[in-house]
Amino acid sequence: PLVSMNHFLPRAKAEGFAVGQFNMNNLEYVQAIIEAGKEEKSPLIFGASEGAIRYMGLHNVVALARVAAEESGLPVALHLDHGSNFEMVMKCIQAGFSSVMFDGSHHPFEENIRLTKKVVEAAHAVGVSVEGELGTIGGVEDDLVVADEDATIANPDEAIRFWEETKVDAMAIAVGTAHGMYKGEPKIRYEVIEKVSKAIEAPIVLHGGSGVPDESITRAISLGVGKINVNTENQVASTAVIRQLLDQDEDMIDPRKYLGPAREAIKETVRGKMRLFGSSGKA
Ligand code: G3H
Ligand code: ZN
Repeated sequence: PLVSMNHFLPRAKAEGFAVGQFNMNNLEYVQAIIEAGKEEKSPLIFGASEGAIRYMGLHNVVALARVAAEESGLPVALHLDHGSNFEMVMKCIQAGFSSVMFDGSHHPFEENIRLTKKVVEAAHAVGVSVEGELGTIGGVEDDLVVADEDATIANPDEAIRFWEETKVDAMAIAVGTAHGMYKGEPKIRYEVIEKVSKAIEAPIVLHGGSGVPDESITRAISLGVGKINVNTENQVASTAVIRQLLDQDEDMIDPRKYLGPAREAIKETVRGKMRLFGSSGKA
């Protein structure tokens, strides 16, 4: 069955590794991510954004994640990514999600605390884990569009108070990464990660994990990042394969002929991340 993130995140923080959240976009993503987990013996988190839920259908998302989790025998969480309101969070929990993110980062600080608290109360009552967010992560992810000049680093003291008041299970703070691929190298504010992580029980979540250099990832994990979200890199890897195959052969019409190799590319990308995050062998 699907499990809450509390099945592996406390251990990740204690032992100094991170569990990857890999976003699902279609069936092939689900298959690729779970195969990678099986080969690496790694816990994993399926991320489903509101956009992906609209695209795939809420019940398809849950059914695919459940079947994959059951067949693998791995600890797998199904997590709503960037949930925008209480109703959406409740709909996902009712449908079978084992974890949710409530992203109240665009609200004023006190309002974010108030709304997140409400989600935590409802989710914890049914054993569902919660991720909250503070600060604004730049870049584009589905419905979320934040211009670079509007991206703001989380204030560490506010982040600590946010956690103390909400008791979220995972704390996403904007520390300089962005959604999507980077134009340059991200300037990660390691001192913010370190200060917040030391003061709270929950692990820090790093959004926008795509295109971040390996050394930066390793350093962030050593300072308290216990969950890392990756989506764009899988999209880039799989789409490159599809583009090349279709360019090469105008007669290719069987979707299995290009989606199969695309799935393989996602699997290899995810395996690489699991090794980098140190979650391999931790299932
Ligand atoms: O919430 C999802 C992630 O933050 C994905 O970011 O597409 O840059 O890997 P990414
Ligand atoms: Zn994100």
